[in-house]
Amino acid sequence: MSGPDIQIEQIDVDIDVQEILLAASQHNIPRLRELIRSNQTAENPANVKDPETGYTPLHAVIAACEADPEEQPEQKSNGIANGVSSETNQGDEASNLVDAGREVVKFLFQEGAIWNDLDENGETPGCLARRLGLSELYELMVDAGVRAEMLLNRLDGYEPIGDDEEEEEEPTDGNEVAKTQDEEAPTGSQESNDSQQNTTTTEEPHVSSSRYLQSNLTFQQDRLLDQDQNGVMMAWEADIMEKSAKALLPTPGLHVINIGHGMGIIDDLIQSQNPGSHHIVEAHPEVVADMKRKGWHEKPGVVIHEGRWQDVLPKLIEAGETFNAIYYDTFAESYSDFREFFSEQVIGLLDPDGKWGFFNGMGADRQISYDVYQKVVEMDLLEAGFDVDWEDLKVPDLEDEWDGVRRKYWAVDKYRLPICRYMD
Ligand SMILES: C[S@@+](CC[C@H](N)C(=O)[O-])C[C@H]1O[C@@H](n2cnc3c(N)ncnc32)[C@H](O)[C@@H]1O
Repeated sequence: MSGPDIQIEQIDVDIDVQEILLAASQHNIPRLRELIRSNQTAENPANVKDPETGYTPLHAVIAACEADPEEQPEQKSNGIANGVSSETNQGDEASNLVDAGREVVKFLFQEGAIWNDLDENGETPGCLARRLGLSELYELMVDAGVRAEMLLNRLDGYEPIGDDEEEEEEPTDGNEVAKTQDEEAPTGSQESNDSQQNTTTTEEPHVSSSRYLQSNLTFQQDRLLDQDQNGVMMAWEADIMEKSAKALLPTPGLHVINIGHGMGIIDDLIQSQNPGSHHIVEAHPEVVADMKRKGWHEKPGVVIHEGRWQDVLPKLIEAGETFNAIYYDTFAESYSDFREFFSEQVIGLLDPDGKWGFFNGMGADRQISYDVYQKVVEMDLLEAGFDVDWEDLKVPDLEDEWDGVRRKYWAVDKYRLPICRYMD
């Protein structure tokens, strides 16, 4: 006889959700406070979800800040006939909405709202703010993302929300870097079907390093794929590699070490800058075999180190090797691997006047994650003693690039090319 009770309970829960979302969209903090604090049913009442739209209170606050395109100046002028005055009114109204929205967003974060939940459209609240041109609210979302990611990066072994699916055989302990962002991210289908799965983060590489290093590879003209059709490296990145090589090696005769050979694009470009010595660290046996087939071991100044940088670099440091330039572009590694790389290894290998760079692909499958990760990495670089200069590069249209590639790992318009140096 428990059926009807369960139904009534469900209706109560739905009403609670709708009331919270309504108060959020009305920017009504007192009502929200009352509803959130008195709520006994939802696990996180500040982060309830509309079952149809997938909107959380943060989505609702932001959507309600959209200027109404239907409203013409006359309609909004409240009797002021002059067009300029009515436009000013409209502008004031929009900025009042954003002011109110900002306070509600801050309140919701204090109450435990999550910055990166996806709605049914595959958008986080920040994506929505960006699409609606609400830059101030977008920045609030980015800052919340930075705080959350910084915290997670420091909690080794912490299991992030939405982590219970698509687990690879070996969980990693931080955020992935480069071309392996979390599969949960944007565009579409599978992720928006599962509420637990509806967050976008850069927490986990979607393929583990050990799986990748045992995987068979396919070498094609314009791409290198692993056995799961993940794009390890793609030719469209050549321009990025060229700009990186030129920025790191402005003059001939410099000593350089490159971590991750891949398709050899950057190593070719390094060669054309006439380095004094050119060390390459490569962990995948099939890539190493391909390098040997192509005669890399016989090129001028080239020294190949077979193995993972984690094993190779400490030995070079012990042997007292130093370099004018270092480049890092690996695959299926976590953000904490990368952080270890620059805070433990680069410090031991880079000349005092040297420069180093990395493939900046963290969070590149959506703009907000890319912006969050730029700030996260900047802070971590600072903590490790590095300054970073960013140069924006236009990314070509990649629409036709992804056929046969498991996951579109790049979706942002501009690549931010980093060049790092020791702080003065
Ligand atoms: C994205 S590709 C590098 C592409 C390269 N920048 C180019 O221009 O072609 C990544 C490479 O890093 C290698 N790799 C992955 N993990 C590594 C590790 N821990 N140590 C050294 N190499 C690694 C992969 O086998 C792969 O060849």
